[in-house]
Amino acid sequence: MTGRFDRNYPTAPRSYDIVADRPTQAGIIGSGTISGIYLENAKKFDAFEIAAIADVRVDAAKARADEYGVPRGCSVEELLADPDIDVVINLTPHRVHGQVGLSVLQAGKHVYTEKPLVVRREEGEAMFAEAERQDRRIGGAPDTFFGGHWQTARSVIDEGLIGEPVAAFVNLHWRRGTPRPNAARPKPAAGHYQSFYATDFYEYGGGAIFDRGPYYLNALIHLLGPVRRVTGSAQKTWSERVEGERTFQVEVPTHVAGVLDFANGAVCQLLMTNDVYDTGLPHIEIYGSEGSLRCIDPNNFGGQLYRRTATDAELVPVENRFGYNENSRGVGVADFCNAIRNERPHRASGAMAYHVVDIINGIHDASEAGRHVDLASTCDQPAPLPRGLADWTIDS
Ligand SMILES: NC(=O)c1ccc[n+]([C@@H]2O[C@H](COP(=O)([O-])OP(=O)(O)OC[C@H]3O[C@@H](n4cnc5c(N)ncnc54)[C@H](O)[C@@H]3O)[C@@H](O)[C@H]2O)c1
Repeated sequence: MTGRFDRNYPTAPRSYDIVADRPTQAGIIGSGTISGIYLENAKKFDAFEIAAIADVRVDAAKARADEYGVPRGCSVEELLADPDIDVVINLTPHRVHGQVGLSVLQAGKHVYTEKPLVVRREEGEAMFAEAERQDRRIGGAPDTFFGGHWQTARSVIDEGLIGEPVAAFVNLHWRRGTPRPNAARPKPAAGHYQSFYATDFYEYGGGAIFDRGPYYLNALIHLLGPVRRVTGSAQKTWSERVEGERTFQVEVPTHVAGVLDFANGAVCQLLMTNDVYDTGLPHIEIYGSEGSLRCIDPNNFGGQLYRRTATDAELVPVENRFGYNENSRGVGVADFCNAIRNERPHRASGAMAYHVVDIINGIHDASEAGRHVDLASTCDQPAPLPRGLADWTIDS
Protein backbone atom coordinates (compact mmCIF):
# COMPACT_ATOMS: atom_id res chain seq x y z
CA MET A 1 0.00 0.00 0.00
CA THR A 2 2.97 2.35 0.45
CA GLY A 3 2.71 5.17 -2.04
CA ARG A 4 -0.98 4.56 -2.79
CA PHE A 5 -1.82 8.13 -1.84
CA ASP A 6 1.24 9.64 -3.43
CA ARG A 7 -0.44 10.67 -6.63
CA ASN A 8 -3.14 12.98 -5.45
CA TYR A 9 -3.20 15.14 -8.54
CA PRO A 10 -4.31 13.94 -11.94
CA THR A 11 -1.73 13.07 -14.56
CA ALA A 12 -3.83 14.86 -17.17
CA PRO A 13 -5.56 17.67 -15.28
CA ARG A 14 -8.80 18.95 -16.80
CA SER A 15 -7.46 22.46 -16.75
CA TYR A 16 -9.36 23.27 -19.94
CA ASP A 17 -12.42 24.10 -17.86
CA ILE A 18 -10.54 26.75 -15.84
CA VAL A 19 -11.06 29.94 -17.84
CA ALA A 20 -7.62 31.37 -18.55
CA ASP A 21 -8.34 35.09 -18.25
CA ARG A 22 -10.12 35.19 -14.88
CA PRO A 23 -9.33 33.96 -11.36
CA THR A 24 -10.41 30.41 -10.56
CA GLN A 25 -14.04 30.45 -9.42
CA ALA A 26 -14.25 28.90 -5.95
CA GLY A 27 -17.15 28.13 -3.65
CA ILE A 28 -17.16 27.72 0.13
CA ILE A 29 -19.25 25.14 2.00
CA GLY A 30 -19.59 26.06 5.69
CA SER A 31 -20.28 29.65 6.71
CA GLY A 32 -19.17 29.37 10.35
CA THR A 33 -16.33 30.98 12.31
CA ILE A 34 -13.38 30.31 10.03
CA SER A 35 -15.14 31.35 6.81
CA GLY A 36 -14.55 35.00 7.82
CA ILE A 37 -10.76 34.95 7.38
CA TYR A 38 -11.02 32.91 4.15
CA LEU A 39 -13.48 35.45 2.72
CA GLU A 40 -11.36 38.39 3.85
CA ASN A 41 -8.10 36.97 2.49
CA ALA A 42 -9.68 35.72 -0.77
CA LYS A 43 -10.01 39.36 -1.81
CA LYS A 44 -6.22 39.76 -1.61
CA PHE A 45 -5.30 36.85 -3.91
CA ASP A 46 -5.48 37.06 -7.72
CA ALA A 47 -5.47 33.27 -8.00
CA PHE A 48 -9.11 32.72 -7.04
CA GLU A 49 -12.32 34.47 -6.11
CA ILE A 50 -15.28 33.28 -4.08
CA ALA A 51 -18.33 33.00 -6.35
CA ALA A 52 -20.71 31.51 -3.76
CA ILE A 53 -20.94 30.36 -0.17
CA ALA A 54 -23.26 27.56 0.99
CA ASP A 55 -24.33 25.99 4.26
CA VAL A 56 -26.96 23.60 5.59
CA ARG A 57 -28.13 26.81 7.29
CA VAL A 58 -28.92 28.70 4.09
CA ASP A 59 -29.78 31.89 6.01
CA ALA A 60 -26.31 31.87 7.59
CA ALA A 61 -24.73 31.45 4.14
CA LYS A 62 -26.75 34.36 2.75
CA ALA A 63 -25.80 36.54 5.72
CA ARG A 64 -22.09 35.70 5.24
CA ALA A 65 -22.40 36.47 1.49
CA ASP A 66 -23.91 39.89 2.27
CA GLU A 67 -21.26 40.61 4.90
CA TYR A 68 -18.32 39.95 2.53
CA GLY A 69 -19.85 40.94 -0.83
CA VAL A 70 -19.94 37.38 -2.19
CA PRO A 71 -22.28 37.16 -5.25
CA ARG A 72 -24.35 34.26 -3.85
CA GLY A 73 -25.30 32.64 -0.53
CA CYS A 74 -27.14 29.40 -1.24
CA SER A 75 -27.77 25.73 -0.42
CA VAL A 76 -25.03 23.13 -0.82
CA GLU A 77 -26.99 21.52 -3.68
CA GLU A 78 -27.15 24.83 -5.57
CA LEU A 79 -23.42 25.44 -5.11
CA LEU A 80 -22.52 21.95 -6.32
CA ALA A 81 -24.77 22.33 -9.38
CA ASP A 82 -23.08 25.59 -10.45
CA PRO A 83 -20.98 24.77 -13.56
CA ASP A 84 -18.89 27.94 -13.12
CA ILE A 85 -17.42 26.76 -9.80
CA ASP A 86 -14.29 24.64 -10.24
CA VAL A 87 -12.89 24.49 -6.69
CA VAL A 88 -14.79 24.03 -3.42
CA ILE A 89 -13.36 24.93 -0.01
CA ASN A 90 -14.82 22.68 2.68
CA LEU A 91 -15.16 24.56 6.01
CA THR A 92 -17.58 22.23 7.76
CA PRO A 93 -17.21 20.38 11.11
CA HIS A 94 -14.70 17.52 11.23
CA ARG A 95 -17.30 14.74 11.38
CA VAL A 96 -18.73 15.68 7.94
CA HIS A 97 -15.46 16.48 6.13
CA GLY A 98 -15.47 13.08 4.42
CA GLN A 99 -19.07 13.15 3.23
CA VAL A 100 -18.94 16.79 2.06
CA GLY A 101 -15.57 16.19 0.35
CA LEU A 102 -16.94 13.16 -1.45
CA SER A 103 -20.04 15.08 -2.65
CA VAL A 104 -17.83 17.84 -4.05
CA LEU A 105 -15.75 15.34 -6.01
CA GLN A 106 -18.89 13.53 -7.21
CA ALA A 107 -20.07 16.90 -8.56
CA GLY A 108 -16.87 16.97 -10.65
CA LYS A 109 -15.12 19.72 -8.69
CA HIS A 110 -11.72 19.95 -7.01
CA VAL A 111 -11.93 20.00 -3.21
CA TYR A 112 -9.74 21.75 -0.63
CA THR A 113 -10.70 20.81 2.94
CA GLU A 114 -9.92 22.47 6.25
CA LYS A 115 -8.11 20.19 8.69
CA PRO A 116 -8.36 17.31 9.29
CA LEU A 117 -8.97 16.02 5.75
CA VAL A 118 -11.22 13.32 7.21
CA VAL A 119 -11.61 11.63 10.56
CA ARG A 120 -11.47 7.94 9.53
CA ARG A 121 -9.07 6.48 6.99
CA GLU A 122 -11.85 4.84 4.93
CA GLU A 123 -13.45 8.25 4.29
CA GLY A 124 -10.14 9.40 2.80
CA GLU A 125 -9.86 6.30 0.66
CA ALA A 126 -13.37 6.91 -0.74
CA MET A 127 -12.38 10.50 -1.59
CA PHE A 128 -9.18 9.45 -3.37
CA ALA A 129 -11.04 6.78 -5.39
CA GLU A 130 -13.61 9.38 -6.48
CA ALA A 131 -10.91 11.97 -7.27
CA GLU A 132 -9.26 9.43 -9.55
CA ARG A 133 -12.60 8.60 -11.24
CA GLN A 134 -13.40 12.27 -11.75
CA ASP A 135 -9.85 13.31 -12.59
CA ARG A 136 -10.01 15.91 -9.85
CA ARG A 137 -7.61 17.05 -7.11
CA ILE A 138 -7.75 17.02 -3.32
CA GLY A 139 -6.02 19.64 -1.18
CA GLY A 140 -6.00 20.07 2.57
CA ALA A 141 -5.26 22.71 5.21
CA PRO A 142 -3.52 23.76 7.42
CA ASP A 143 -1.52 26.14 5.25
CA THR A 144 0.49 27.82 8.04
CA PHE A 145 3.58 26.00 6.74
CA PHE A 146 3.56 28.51 3.83
CA GLY A 147 4.37 31.15 6.49
CA GLY A 148 7.66 33.03 6.75
CA HIS A 149 8.70 31.24 9.94
CA TRP A 150 8.26 27.78 8.43
CA GLN A 151 9.79 28.60 5.07
CA THR A 152 12.82 30.06 6.89
CA ALA A 153 13.11 26.92 9.05
CA ARG A 154 12.89 24.76 5.93
CA SER A 155 15.65 26.72 4.17
CA VAL A 156 17.88 26.46 7.28
CA ILE A 157 17.45 22.68 7.30
CA ASP A 158 17.81 22.31 3.51
CA GLU A 159 21.02 24.36 3.59
CA GLY A 160 22.48 22.00 6.20
CA LEU A 161 22.71 24.69 8.89
CA ILE A 162 21.74 22.19 11.61
CA GLY A 163 23.43 19.23 9.90
CA GLU A 164 21.47 16.01 9.41
CA PRO A 165 18.08 16.05 11.19
CA VAL A 166 18.11 13.31 13.84
CA ALA A 167 15.17 14.08 16.12
CA ALA A 168 12.21 16.36 16.85
CA PHE A 169 9.89 17.31 19.69
CA VAL A 170 6.30 18.55 19.44
CA ASN A 171 4.09 19.61 22.27
CA LEU A 172 0.58 20.99 22.71
CA HIS A 173 -0.86 21.56 26.19
CA TRP A 174 -4.44 22.72 25.69
CA ARG A 175 -6.52 22.29 28.85
CA ARG A 176 -10.22 23.09 28.35
CA GLY A 177 -13.10 23.58 30.75
CA THR A 178 -13.20 24.01 34.53
CA PRO A 179 -11.45 24.56 36.86
CA ARG A 180 -9.87 27.21 34.60
CA PRO A 181 -11.75 30.29 35.80
CA ASN A 182 -12.23 31.99 32.43
CA ALA A 183 -13.74 28.93 30.76
CA ALA A 184 -17.38 29.57 31.68
CA ARG A 185 -19.48 28.75 28.62
CA PRO A 186 -23.17 29.48 29.07
CA LYS A 187 -25.69 27.16 27.46
CA PRO A 188 -26.71 28.56 24.06
CA ALA A 189 -30.19 30.03 23.65
CA ALA A 190 -32.62 27.66 21.90
CA GLY A 191 -32.20 27.82 18.13
CA HIS A 192 -28.88 29.65 18.34
CA TYR A 193 -26.07 27.98 16.34
CA GLN A 194 -23.19 26.69 18.45
CA SER A 195 -19.86 25.94 16.82
CA PHE A 196 -19.07 22.24 16.65
CA TYR A 197 -16.08 22.98 18.87
CA ALA A 198 -18.58 23.50 21.69
CA THR A 199 -20.68 20.42 20.92
CA ASP A 200 -18.46 17.71 19.32
CA PHE A 201 -15.13 18.27 21.01
CA TYR A 202 -15.06 15.04 23.03
CA GLU A 203 -16.20 12.85 20.11
CA TYR A 204 -14.01 11.01 17.62
CA GLY A 205 -12.34 13.56 15.34
CA GLY A 206 -12.46 16.36 17.94
CA GLY A 207 -9.84 16.75 20.62
CA ALA A 208 -6.31 18.12 20.55
CA ILE A 209 -4.72 15.64 18.19
CA PHE A 210 -7.37 15.77 15.43
CA ASP A 211 -7.92 19.51 15.71
CA ARG A 212 -4.45 20.97 16.34
CA GLY A 213 -2.37 17.90 15.48
CA PRO A 214 -2.56 18.64 11.73
CA TYR A 215 -0.74 21.98 12.22
CA TYR A 216 2.12 20.22 14.00
CA LEU A 217 2.24 17.25 11.67
CA ASN A 218 2.08 19.37 8.48
CA ALA A 219 4.91 21.54 9.85
CA LEU A 220 6.99 18.44 10.61
CA ILE A 221 6.34 16.85 7.20
CA HIS A 222 7.21 20.18 5.53
CA LEU A 223 10.51 20.22 7.46
CA LEU A 224 11.43 16.53 7.59
CA GLY A 225 9.34 14.59 5.05
CA PRO A 226 6.92 11.70 5.63
CA VAL A 227 6.61 9.34 8.62
CA ARG A 228 7.37 5.62 8.37
CA ARG A 229 5.91 4.20 11.58
CA VAL A 230 4.33 5.35 14.85
CA THR A 231 3.63 4.19 18.36
CA GLY A 232 2.14 5.75 21.47
CA SER A 233 -0.31 5.78 24.33
CA ALA A 234 -3.73 7.41 23.94
CA GLN A 235 -5.48 7.96 27.24
CA LYS A 236 -9.01 9.00 28.18
CA THR A 237 -8.04 10.65 31.45
CA TRP A 238 -11.59 11.43 32.62
CA SER A 239 -14.91 10.03 31.38
CA GLU A 240 -16.73 13.32 31.99
CA ARG A 241 -15.64 16.92 31.38
CA VAL A 242 -17.30 20.02 32.76
CA GLU A 243 -17.20 23.15 30.62
CA GLY A 244 -19.06 26.05 32.17
CA GLU A 245 -22.64 24.96 32.80
CA ARG A 246 -22.32 21.82 30.70
CA THR A 247 -21.08 18.30 31.33
CA PHE A 248 -19.76 16.26 28.39
CA GLN A 249 -19.33 12.49 28.19
CA VAL A 250 -15.80 11.91 26.87
CA GLU A 251 -15.92 9.41 23.98
CA VAL A 252 -12.25 9.48 22.97
CA PRO A 253 -8.69 9.77 24.28
CA THR A 254 -7.87 13.34 25.31
CA HIS A 255 -4.18 12.85 26.13
CA VAL A 256 -1.99 11.36 23.39
CA ALA A 257 1.74 10.70 23.74
CA GLY A 258 3.37 9.34 20.60
CA VAL A 259 6.62 8.55 18.88
CA LEU A 260 7.03 9.10 15.13
CA ASP A 261 9.83 7.52 13.10
CA PHE A 262 10.37 9.63 9.98
CA ALA A 263 11.41 8.03 6.69
CA ASN A 264 14.62 10.13 6.84
CA GLY A 265 15.56 8.47 10.15
CA ALA A 266 14.59 11.30 12.53
CA VAL A 267 12.66 10.25 15.65
CA CYS A 268 10.04 12.59 17.10
CA GLN A 269 8.34 12.58 20.49
CA LEU A 270 4.82 14.06 20.42
CA LEU A 271 2.42 15.19 23.11
CA MET A 272 -1.09 16.41 22.26
CA THR A 273 -3.27 16.88 25.30
CA ASN A 274 -6.46 18.54 26.49
CA ASP A 275 -5.82 17.37 30.04
CA VAL A 276 -2.89 19.27 31.51
CA TYR A 277 -2.09 22.94 32.03
CA ASP A 278 0.51 24.67 29.91
CA THR A 279 3.99 24.90 31.45
CA GLY A 280 5.58 26.97 28.70
CA LEU A 281 7.41 24.10 26.97
CA PRO A 282 8.28 24.92 23.34
CA HIS A 283 5.84 23.84 20.63
CA ILE A 284 8.24 22.37 18.08
CA GLU A 285 11.98 21.75 18.12
CA ILE A 286 14.07 20.11 15.39
CA TYR A 287 17.41 18.60 16.35
CA GLY A 288 20.21 18.08 13.83
CA SER A 289 23.71 16.65 14.04
CA GLU A 290 25.16 20.19 14.06
CA GLY A 291 22.49 22.24 15.80
CA SER A 292 18.94 22.66 17.07
CA LEU A 293 16.00 24.80 15.92
CA ARG A 294 13.25 26.18 18.13
CA CYS A 295 10.04 26.88 16.23
CA ILE A 296 6.80 28.70 17.08
CA ASP A 297 3.26 27.43 17.63
CA PRO A 298 2.43 26.11 14.14
CA ASN A 299 -1.05 27.67 14.34
CA ASN A 300 0.83 30.79 13.18
CA PHE A 301 2.53 31.87 9.96
CA GLY A 302 5.18 34.20 11.36
CA GLY A 303 7.30 34.54 14.49
CA GLN A 304 10.90 34.31 15.70
CA LEU A 305 12.91 31.20 14.81
CA TYR A 306 15.95 30.32 16.94
CA ARG A 307 18.98 28.14 16.30
CA ARG A 308 21.76 26.88 18.55
CA THR A 309 24.96 25.25 17.33
CA ALA A 310 28.09 23.93 19.11
CA THR A 311 29.63 27.41 19.27
CA ASP A 312 26.54 29.20 20.67
CA ALA A 313 26.09 29.63 24.42
CA GLU A 314 22.32 29.95 23.94
CA LEU A 315 19.59 30.07 21.31
CA VAL A 316 20.31 32.69 18.63
CA PRO A 317 17.56 34.41 16.59
CA VAL A 318 17.51 33.47 12.89
CA GLU A 319 16.63 36.28 10.50
CA ASN A 320 13.34 35.73 8.70
CA ARG A 321 13.87 35.17 4.97
CA PHE A 322 10.30 34.92 3.63
CA GLY A 323 6.94 36.68 3.36
CA TYR A 324 3.53 35.47 4.59
CA ASN A 325 4.06 36.36 8.25
CA GLU A 326 0.49 37.42 9.08
CA ASN A 327 -2.66 35.29 9.17
CA SER A 328 -2.66 34.29 5.49
CA ARG A 329 -5.21 31.44 5.67
CA GLY A 330 -6.21 30.74 2.10
CA VAL A 331 -2.66 30.79 0.70
CA GLY A 332 -2.98 27.00 0.38
CA VAL A 333 -6.12 27.52 -1.74
CA ALA A 334 -4.31 30.07 -3.95
CA ASP A 335 -1.47 27.57 -4.46
CA PHE A 336 -4.04 24.79 -5.15
CA CYS A 337 -5.78 26.89 -7.83
CA ASN A 338 -2.53 28.00 -9.49
CA ALA A 339 -1.22 24.44 -9.42
CA ILE A 340 -4.33 23.15 -11.22
CA ARG A 341 -4.09 25.96 -13.74
CA ASN A 342 -0.35 25.46 -14.33
CA GLU A 343 -0.46 21.65 -14.14
CA ARG A 344 2.05 21.32 -11.29
CA PRO A 345 1.72 19.61 -7.87
CA HIS A 346 0.08 21.70 -5.14
CA ARG A 347 1.85 22.07 -1.80
CA ALA A 348 -0.99 21.52 0.69
CA SER A 349 -1.64 18.17 -0.92
CA GLY A 350 -4.40 15.68 -0.22
CA ALA A 351 -1.66 13.07 0.12
CA MET A 352 -0.07 15.03 2.98
CA ALA A 353 -3.46 15.72 4.62
CA TYR A 354 -4.32 12.01 4.39
CA HIS A 355 -0.88 11.01 5.74
CA VAL A 356 -1.58 13.21 8.78
CA VAL A 357 -4.91 11.43 9.40
CA ASP A 358 -3.11 8.09 9.00
CA ILE A 359 -0.47 9.14 11.57
CA ILE A 360 -3.15 10.20 14.08
CA ASN A 361 -5.17 7.02 13.66
CA GLY A 362 -1.94 5.00 13.68
CA ILE A 363 -1.00 6.32 17.15
CA HIS A 364 -4.47 5.38 18.44
CA ASP A 365 -4.14 1.91 16.85
CA ALA A 366 -0.65 1.45 18.30
CA SER A 367 -1.91 2.34 21.76
CA GLU A 368 -4.69 -0.24 21.53
CA ALA A 369 -2.42 -2.94 20.07
CA GLY A 370 0.57 -2.19 22.32
CA ARG A 371 3.08 -2.07 19.45
CA HIS A 372 4.49 0.06 16.61
CA VAL A 373 2.24 0.55 13.55
CA ASP A 374 3.81 0.79 10.07
CA LEU A 375 1.97 3.41 8.03
CA ALA A 376 0.42 2.45 4.71
CA SER A 377 0.43 6.01 3.42
CA THR A 378 3.19 8.40 2.52
CA CYS A 379 3.48 11.74 0.73
CA ASP A 380 5.96 14.07 -0.89
CA GLN A 381 7.55 16.86 1.14
CA PRO A 382 5.90 20.04 -0.23
CA ALA A 383 8.11 22.18 -2.46
CA PRO A 384 9.51 25.22 -0.62
CA LEU A 385 8.27 28.65 -1.71
CA PRO A 386 10.64 30.71 -3.86
CA ARG A 387 12.62 33.43 -2.08
CA GLY A 388 11.43 36.97 -2.66
CA LEU A 389 7.79 36.00 -3.19
CA ALA A 390 5.45 38.91 -2.36
CA ASP A 391 2.53 38.27 -0.01
CA TRP A 392 -0.72 37.30 -1.77
CA THR A 393 1.16 35.90 -4.77
CA ILE A 394 2.25 32.33 -5.42
CA ASP A 395 3.91 31.86 -8.80
CA SER A 396 6.14 34.87 -9.37
N1 LIG B 1 -12.63 28.15 14.40
C1 LIG B 1 -11.32 28.23 14.19
O1 LIG B 1 -10.60 29.03 14.84
C2 LIG B 1 -10.66 27.40 13.12
C3 LIG B 1 -9.34 27.70 12.80
C4 LIG B 1 -8.73 26.99 11.78
C5 LIG B 1 -9.43 25.99 11.14
N2 LIG B 1 -10.71 25.67 11.50
C6 LIG B 1 -11.37 24.57 10.78
O2 LIG B 1 -12.42 25.10 9.98
C7 LIG B 1 -13.49 24.15 9.90
C8 LIG B 1 -14.77 24.82 10.36
O3 LIG B 1 -14.58 25.33 11.66
P1 LIG B 1 -15.50 26.52 12.22
O4 LIG B 1 -14.87 26.95 13.49
O5 LIG B 1 -15.78 27.51 11.16
O6 LIG B 1 -16.83 25.69 12.57
P2 LIG B 1 -18.30 26.25 12.83
O7 LIG B 1 -19.00 25.24 13.65
O8 LIG B 1 -18.24 27.67 13.30
O9 LIG B 1 -18.93 26.28 11.36
C9 LIG B 1 -19.24 25.12 10.63
C10 LIG B 1 -20.31 25.46 9.61
O10 LIG B 1 -20.58 24.30 8.82
C11 LIG B 1 -21.99 24.17 8.65
N3 LIG B 1 -22.30 22.76 8.36
C12 LIG B 1 -22.37 21.73 9.25
N4 LIG B 1 -22.61 20.57 8.59
C13 LIG B 1 -22.70 20.89 7.27
C14 LIG B 1 -22.94 20.13 6.09
N5 LIG B 1 -23.10 18.80 6.13
N6 LIG B 1 -22.99 20.78 4.90
C15 LIG B 1 -22.84 22.13 4.84
N7 LIG B 1 -22.60 22.91 5.93
C16 LIG B 1 -22.52 22.29 7.12
C17 LIG B 1 -22.58 24.70 9.94
O11 LIG B 1 -23.93 25.09 9.76
C18 LIG B 1 -21.64 25.88 10.25
O12 LIG B 1 -22.09 27.07 9.62
C19 LIG B 1 -13.04 22.95 10.76
O13 LIG B 1 -12.46 22.01 9.92
C20 LIG B 1 -11.99 23.53 11.69
O14 LIG B 1 -11.05 22.57 12.11
C21 LIG B 1 -11.35 26.38 12.45
